[in-house]
Amino acid sequence: MENLTIDGKRLWDSLMEMAGIGATAKGGVCRLALTDLDRESRALFTRWCEEAGCSVGFDAMGNIFARRPGRNPDLPPVMTGSHLDSQPTGGKYDGAYGVLAGLEVLRSLNDHGVETEAPVEVVVWTNEEGSRFAPAMIGSGAFAGVFDLDYAQNRTDMDGKTIGQELDRIGYKGEGCGGRPVGAYFEAHIEQGPVLEAEEKTIGVVTGAQGQRWYEITLTGQEAHAGPTPMARRHDALVGAASIVTAVNRIGTSFQPDACATVGMLICKPNSRNVIPGEVFLTVDFRHPNDGRLAGMDQALRQAAEVAAETGGLELKLEEIWHFGATPFDQACVAVVKAGAERYGHSHREIISGAGHDAVYMAKAAPTGMIFVPCENGISHNEIENATPEDLAAGCEVLLHAILEKAGAR
Ligand code: GLV
Ligand code: MN
Ligand code: MN
Repeated sequence: MENLTIDGKRLWDSLMEMAGIGATAKGGVCRLALTDLDRESRALFTRWCEEAGCSVGFDAMGNIFARRPGRNPDLPPVMTGSHLDSQPTGGKYDGAYGVLAGLEVLRSLNDHGVETEAPVEVVVWTNEEGSRFAPAMIGSGAFAGVFDLDYAQNRTDMDGKTIGQELDRIGYKGEGCGGRPVGAYFEAHIEQGPVLEAEEKTIGVVTGAQGQRWYEITLTGQEAHAGPTPMARRHDALVGAASIVTAVNRIGTSFQPDACATVGMLICKPNSRNVIPGEVFLTVDFRHPNDGRLAGMDQALRQAAEVAAETGGLELKLEEIWHFGATPFDQACVAVVKAGAERYGHSHREIISGAGHDAVYMAKAAPTGMIFVPCENGISHNEIENATPEDLAAGCEVLLHAILEKAGAR
C-alpha cells in the first residue's frame, strides 16, 4: 500500500477548535475533568466522530469509545486516544493532540476509502491529569483492571464530590468498564520535555515510561497568635512543611541522573497572616525510570518527613496514594512506531516518557506503543505550551501507519 496522507490542516483546525473550550486569556486551556467544559469537549468529540461515521459509546468511568467498524467484527479493536481534561493552567496539546490525531486517522481512512480488518476505536480517557481527582490516569486504569470500579468512582475532588457523582451530573456514566480484548493501543502525545527539540528529531519512539509515586502529607501543629507566642513555644506546621519541600528538592537532585521530585500543592490552614499555621497539607510527586532508585527516594522522603515533624513538634500523616513501576512498552509496537517514522521520512530517536500517560495502564491490557512529537522549549503543563502543525501532522502520519499495521488493511 502506498503512503496514505493525513490532512494536517484539518488536524490543526480541530485542535484549535477544541482549545476554544476552556480557553484561557494566556492562550492555554483550563478544562478540569468532569466539569461543564469537559462535558462540552466530550460533546464536540462525539459529534465529530458521529459525522465520521463512527458509533460512539461510553463506559462506567465515562471513557468514550468511537468505533469505526472493520471487515471482521470479531477481531479485537486497535485503539488509540488520550485525554481531553487539562491542568488548571494547561496547554492546547497535552491529551487533546492524541485524541484528535486519532480522529484525523479515522477521517483519513474515510477519505481514502480504506477498510481495515479489525475495528479501530478512538478513546477519550477520563481524568488523565489527576489534577481535580487523584490519582491520575484513573479512567484507563479502571479499564485495564488496575483499579476496581468502586474505588475509581469514589475518588473525590477538594470539595468532596466523587467521580461517580460528577459523571452522573454531566451524563457520562455508562455501564461496565474494561474486561474486553484490545488488539493494540497507540497514543500520540507531545513530548512535554526538551529532548526531541534539542536534538532536532521529529518523532520520539517511546520505549516505555518511568515509575511514579504520589504522596499526600498532613502536618498538624497548633494554631496560635503570631504576636504573643514566643518562637520557642510554637508548633508551626508550615515551617515543618517548608523543610519537607526543601527535602523533596534535595532528594530529586541527589538521585540524579533521572530523578524528578516535586511538591505541587500546599494548603496552609487557617491561612491568616497573624495566625501561626496549625495544619498544612502538601503533595509529593516522585519519578524515576529505575524502580530501585524510586524506592530509595521513598525511604529518603519518609526519613526527612519524620525529622521535620519531630523537630517542629508536629503530628505527621504521610500516605503514598499512588504508585506504578517503570513500564516498558511492547517491543513489536515500538518497532511499528519506528517503522512508521522511517516510512514517512521523519527523523526519530528512542525516548522514555517522563510523564504518566494512559498508555502506561493500557500496557497492562494490550500491546502498547506511544509516539512523541516535540513541543516548544520542552514546556508543558503551562498555558504557553506550543507545537508546530508540521510536527503534529508527522506524528499523526506515524499513528496512521501504526494503526494500519495492527488493524490490517488491504
Ligand atoms: C500527567 O500529566 C503526568 O503528570 O505525568
Ligand atoms: Mn497528557
Ligand atoms: Mn498532562
